[in-house]
This record gives sequence, C-alpha cells and structure tokens, in this order.
Amino acid sequence: MKRFVLFLLLALAVVSLAAQGQDLRLIPYPCYMQAEEGMYAPEGGVATVFTNLRGTDRGELLDYIAASSLPLRAVRRQEGAHVRLLLDNLDPSFTHPEAYRVEITPQGADCYACDVRGLFYAFQTLLWLDGQRVPAGTGRHSLPLVKIYDAPRLEWRGWHMDVSRHYFDKEFLKKQLRMMARYKMNRFHWHLVDDAGWRLEVKRYPELTDSTAFRPWRLWEDWGRAGGRFCSARSKGAYGGYFTQRDVREIVEYARRLHITVVPEIDVPGHSRAVLAAYPSLGCTGKAYENSELCLGAEKTFEFVTGVLSEIIDLFPDEYIHIGGDEADRSHWARCPRCQDLMRREGLQGVEELQSWFTRRVEDWLTSRGRKLIGWDEIMEGGLSSRATVMAWRGEKWGVQAAREGHDVVMTPWQCYLDNAQDDLTTEPRGVGGYVPLRLTYDFDPVPAGLSEAEAAHILGLQGNVWTERIATPQHAEYMIYPRICAIAENGWTLPERKSWERFYTFALDEVDHLHQAGYNAFNLAAEKGDREEAQGPVEHLAVGHSPVYTHPASAKYPGRHGEATLTDGERGSYNYQQGQWLGFEDEDCEVTIDLDSVVTVHEVSADFMQRADQWIWLPAGVVVSASQDGTQWTVLSNEPWEPDFDDPMIRFQRFGWQGTTEARFVRLSAKASGRRGGWLFTDEIIVR
Ligand code: ACM
Ligand code: ZN
Repeated sequence: MKRFVLFLLLALAVVSLAAQGQDLRLIPYPCYMQAEEGMYAPEGGVATVFTNLRGTDRGELLDYIAASSLPLRAVRRQEGAHVRLLLDNLDPSFTHPEAYRVEITPQGADCYACDVRGLFYAFQTLLWLDGQRVPAGTGRHSLPLVKIYDAPRLEWRGWHMDVSRHYFDKEFLKKQLRMMARYKMNRFHWHLVDDAGWRLEVKRYPELTDSTAFRPWRLWEDWGRAGGRFCSARSKGAYGGYFTQRDVREIVEYARRLHITVVPEIDVPGHSRAVLAAYPSLGCTGKAYENSELCLGAEKTFEFVTGVLSEIIDLFPDEYIHIGGDEADRSHWARCPRCQDLMRREGLQGVEELQSWFTRRVEDWLTSRGRKLIGWDEIMEGGLSSRATVMAWRGEKWGVQAAREGHDVVMTPWQCYLDNAQDDLTTEPRGVGGYVPLRLTYDFDPVPAGLSEAEAAHILGLQGNVWTERIATPQHAEYMIYPRICAIAENGWTLPERKSWERFYTFALDEVDHLHQAGYNAFNLAAEKGDREEAQGPVEHLAVGHSPVYTHPASAKYPGRHGEATLTDGERGSYNYQQGQWLGFEDEDCEVTIDLDSVVTVHEVSADFMQRADQWIWLPAGVVVSASQDGTQWTVLSNEPWEPDFDDPMIRFQRFGWQGTTEARFVRLSAKASGRRGGWLFTDEIIVR
C-alpha cells in the first residue's frame, strides 16, 4: 500500500513537472512555458513549413530551416502546413522584436512574432524541443505539446573574442556564431587589434597588417619573452594572420543571417604596440617597441584613428563602434612635449582629461556619421559624453557609476571573463589565472541591486569575454567558452525570478553532451571537481578567534575580509585570492604571532601559501615555526628552507609548518619573502592544532 502511494506521488510529480514545462530543456529559459503530455510527430518523418515572411527575410529563414536538423519542406499555403512561422503583431504588450510565441498541438507548431528575429528565435526553440520526449538515440523527430511566450530581459547578449594575442580564423568564428544563435545571443564583439598584432586589412594603412600580423613565435608568452618583435608573413616559421576586408564582410553577413550584429573593436590609444611597430611616428617618442600608447598631442594620431574608423564604418553596419580605451599607461603623455603642449592649449588638468579629450573628439566624429561610441570603463575617467556607452570590466561598480551618470552600460566584470579556469586551478589548462566556475557566472546579475528603475534601464546587457593570451588553439578556446556562455545567455535573456541554478545545471549537463556530439570541445561539467577542497567549509583549530599579531602588516590591497583576524577566522581561501580569505604581503615577510591565552599542548602549526607566477605571487623562501610559554623565551620548532621556482607557470598551493608535540601559549609562523622584488606572499589561515 505504502509503495503504491509513493508510486502515485511520484507519478503526480512527473505529470506536474511536465505540466509546468519543467521537463523541457531550453537555454535560455523562457518567460512562460506550459506543457502538456503528448507530442506532435510528423507523419513519415517529414513535415511542411509555411511562413508569411516576404522577400529576403523569407528566403533567408527558409534557407536556415532547410539546412537545420529538422526535416521540414517549405510550402506556399498556410492551410494544412504543419509548422507555421507567422509575422503577427501579437498583443500590444508583447511587441519586442525578439519576442515570440510557440504553440505546439497534436497537429503541428504555430509560431508568432512581430519581427523576423522573433521568428528566428521561435525556430531555435523548436530545434531545442525536437526529440525531447522520445527516447534518446532513436533519431525520431517530435515536438512536445507546449505553449511558450518568450522575450528577452536585456537587449545586449554578447560574446567577445580576442583574435590578436592568438589568431583565430574565419571558420572558427562562424562555428561559434552558429552556437551563439542557439543560445539567442545577438552581439559578437570582435577584438580585432591589440599589442600582439593588427588583424584587420586597412587599405589606407597597409603596413599595419604587412608588418604586424605575423610573429616568429606561435605562443604569445614565448613571443613576449623573446622581445615581442613582429615579422613578415614570408619569414620562416611566421605565425599569425589577418582578416581581409572581404573576410570581414563575409563574417558580418554570416552573423547577420544569425541575427547577430558584429561590434568591431579598434583598441586605442593604449594597446597600440602593433600600430607603433608599423607607424612609429604615431607614438610620443617616434620609436617602435617602446610603449603601447599613441601620442595624443599629434594631430596625425586623430587622422590615423579616424582613417581606420572610416573603413570600419564601411565594413560594419551596426551602430556601435568599440574604441577600446583600456589600460593606457598615461605616464607617457605626461613626459611628451607634444602631449603637454596640447594639454596647455586645451586647458586639460591631467592625463585622464587628455584621454577624455581624445575620446570626445572620436565620439563627435562617430556621432556625426550616425554611429555610437562604446569603450572600456577607463573612458569615463576625465569625463565622457553622455552619448557614449560604457563596457564595465574592472568591476560592477564602474557599471553602476556609469548608469548613474546616464551612460548606457554593458556589464562584463570578472565573472564574465571566460579566460579564467572553470575548475581545479592546479590542473585545468592555463588561462588568466582566476577561478570562475559555471555557478559564479550563472549567479552574476547584470543589473546591480540598488539602481533606480531609470538607472537600471541603462544596463543594456552583458557579454562573455574570451581573451587569448594563454589560449592558442580553437580546442582550448571552445573549452573555455562552453558551457559558461550558456550562463551568460540565460543571464541576459531570462528574468531573475525565472532563473534556477538547479534546473540550469541539469540542462547544462545535457547541453555539454549536445556540444560534444556537435563537435565542440566543451568543458566536461559532469567531471567538475569544484573549489579548493580546503575552502569548502570552515576549519576548527586552536587559533580560531585568537587575534594574530603581525610583524609586518598585510598589504592594504589585500586586507582580508576580517582584517587582521583573517588568518585565524577558520575560513580557508578559495582559488580566487581576491575574495577576502587570503592576505597578501608585498615585498615583506609574513610573520604572525598568536597568543593562545594559556599553555596548551600543540601538535601542529602550519599555513598554506600560493604561487601564481603571472601575478608575482611566490611561495616563501622558507618557513620557521617557533613557540613560547611566556612570550620571552622562544624555541624554534622547525626551520624549513625553500627555493621558489620562478619559472613554474602553474598555480600551486603548498603547506609549510611543523608537526610534533610541545607545550606552548605563544606560537609564531615566519614565512620569508621569496626574494624577488615586487613579489607577493599569500596565505589564508594559520592552523594551530
Ligand atoms: C580588458 O580586459 N583590458 C578590457
Ligand atoms: Zn605625445
């Protein structure tokens, strides 16, 4: 009897999940989904499709459908067609061009939208639903009975790709764009140029690609270590490439058919080492390979930038043009007579205002040609035209400030940096060094709490950024992109109250299988290990709650979440050292003394240290542990020398300390700085047992 009740309950649960549509897999998750049991399955395996779209839209959508996995044959009559894609004004509250409605009945599927984009997304939804209620592997086509009303929460749902640090070709880009369309993403931010190579043919400035699109080293790091010089395409072992204007038009058109607009980035006035290698006279010193900043005091810099942008405007029809603006070392302008002269003439108060003067000029130039300027958040420093859009990358706070100042904003803080590893930092392929598991990306809300409704309306959306300093191959890039880009897509599309980590996670597991079958090298989410084991829960030990005394204070840049108490708060550090569990000591020893209040038996005094060469964080050059009963007479318990390996590129965590038996009231752990100037020591907890 009990068993029967249990069975009944389970059956009811399954039915009600089906009724809510929760058994149907869809990323991003829709606004409204009401499913019923049963399905539509085309007789003889093939169904007819009708659309009332006209002209180019009609031809392009039908071409897309014909090339898709659904077996559909286009017909000219609406009556009797199984799948109908209909332009319709929906109801007045549902007029977003990307919104759509899908109703699947035992007779077929009706899709409605007020724009071709909505119909395209309705069709993506059919592709997602196809076969979900037939046993996997049968290859049978079917659509579950369901009603879906859907519209995006935010308008900018983007993928950013750096093709400068390593070159990624046309076919790679097209392959990813196809998958972006599946996730209803609509912006491709193409980081075309940077210090490591100019990858866009510019007819006015042929030297850009003639002399900086190739280098004698394949890997960016090797190249940088060897001096970072470019070579010609014909040199032996030359690595690199660039996109001809014809290639660009092909990509832009390919993306357009997927309803993705391409936002080109020309990163100036910093990140311009390649420009200066080709045209040294555009720099403050007139010499190549000295710095990465264009000279803003020289009129020909403006001529150069607008010359390039003239061709960009011709190639890229989208209104947004990204002009970079990040990470310029402005100190070069402070030393340049031409830049100083211009600042005096224009009454500019500092080098921030100099960059801002330049950005305004470019912004005016773009505006007069009907385009919109977008740039990294540094463009706000020194003042910015309210028409400009800010891409917030240094943290959410820059996006908040920009929205409060009335700028449109695209959010892309570190949780959206897909060059961070998504699992065990000590074994994952190398990236920029941080730890961003799928959950962290999923939990990022692009619309920060605390903005007023009017301010929040300035948040256009978000994007996932792929920077390729340490990503050299298509396989590695795909591994970093998938499945985290699914979280970016859902954050941009799905209303917060419709999001659910548990549901998304199970869908993402299935999506990884789909990606693998489709030939994408997605990260294997099912084998995810998670954060540092030590960081998964609090740790109990004798020093918890006892205030440590520091011989040298921790750096104010990494003060720890609990200040000085951070090393005895029972919280171990995650892979991310910026989250407040780690203390950082810059060019100093880390020497910590703890008073346990009374003499007790002690068996262990230890601490973990981190090494991350890319951040100049090194293991210590030895650790001494000592103990005392009265605070005056000290006994050295252990003295462990260590030689940090400064050439080790991997991220490491290593435990140092002492184990044994002693009676002590005071314990001291003294870790010696690595000896490399400007280096850091990082530790998360002094454990006393
Ligand atoms: C950036 O990551 N430098 C925008
Ligand atoms: Zn200058």
